[in-house]
Amino acid sequence: MDWRVPLADVNLGPEELEAVSAVIRSGWLTMGSVTQAFEQEYAQSTQSAHALAITNATAALHLACLALGIGPGDEVILPSLTFVASANAIGYTGAIPVFADIESPDWLCLSPRAVEAAITEKTKAIMVVHYAGYACDMPAILEIARQHQLDVIEDAAHAVGASLNGKALGTWGSVGCFSFFGNKNLTTAEGGMLVTDDPEIAQKVRVLRSHGMTTLTWDRFKGHASTYDVVAQGYNYRMDELRSALGREQLKRIPAGNARRGELVKLYCQLLSRETPTISIPFQEERGQSSYHIMPVLLPSGADKPAFMEQMKQQGIQTSWHYPPVHRFRVYKEAYASRPNPLPVTDEVAQREVTLPLYPTMTDEQVAWVVQAAKEALAGL
Ligand SMILES: Cc1ncc(COP(=O)(O)O)c(C=O)c1O
Repeated sequence: MDWRVPLADVNLGPEELEAVSAVIRSGWLTMGSVTQAFEQEYAQSTQSAHALAITNATAALHLACLALGIGPGDEVILPSLTFVASANAIGYTGAIPVFADIESPDWLCLSPRAVEAAITEKTKAIMVVHYAGYACDMPAILEIARQHQLDVIEDAAHAVGASLNGKALGTWGSVGCFSFFGNKNLTTAEGGMLVTDDPEIAQKVRVLRSHGMTTLTWDRFKGHASTYDVVAQGYNYRMDELRSALGREQLKRIPAGNARRGELVKLYCQLLSRETPTISIPFQEERGQSSYHIMPVLLPSGADKPAFMEQMKQQGIQTSWHYPPVHRFRVYKEAYASRPNPLPVTDEVAQREVTLPLYPTMTDEQVAWVVQAAKEALAGL
């Protein structure tokens, strides 16, 4: 479909084309010096001791769980208002994802109070999700984790370039995982990054992402090693040089790209509060620096969301839903029926949430079109 305003768009230029071409010309395509440079630059941008490029954020979350020793019989607390990958990554280890509610319709991140209520003697970790790139209440979550001796994993898939109190999201807990999927603020088509300050976690992840082998093909090519041992039953979760080259260029675009996203969000807020006052806009509180990954709004309670989205579509505006809550998916209902937590805020927000278009190359005029279309769509319900 040819959208008048798509939900998201890539921000790629001749720099990315040249960087990828240079890798092709070099003749070395798999994990090597370009990936190493990308990791160093990412570590620097987040002020992390270690950054490890991973094939995608789902794999990074899986490795984060494994490196923290999470396995069968353990429970990990996370929000249900997230992409299913967060819960799947926990499930891969044999551990049980335990869903806890979000703060409120005004802040769609995991509630510290709900986390505390969900803790049992089996709880091993908390996985927070910085929804849309807005910060979870990390001081409160970390205090609960400290009291109960739990690890904190940050699903920072949306949060490239975001921070709280000047500290990058993804660096508050034991491990942070970022996504570079095609619709993300920084894209490598598919890709991800895991950051940690803990050298032991970094070493475990490094080994597990490459079949449990002690050396890389690159090390052997360079003559740094001639053989290897296998010390764990690992995975092939490596990044390649083409994607890393893309990522290095994309990282340079983050400050300006996120700033433009912020301007567009401000404009949306002004126009929506004037034109569609019955639509509420979460994340109005001042809390850290968002990456403004997406533009979620909440329709009035009881509004017919599918009809609203259809009317937007008729006007050429692509919208989405972040997210159908994971606890409502059949496989999760069936597999974890014995651990249902009531999630009233999640259920309410999920019914009302619609995501409007947002991307750095969007124009002010396009924001005005979207708001006008929303006004008309609401009136037609
Ligand atoms: C919150 C969240 N977690 C995890 C992921 C998984 O990321 P990836 O597609 O890089 O595996 C996504 C992807 O959209 C996401 O939005």
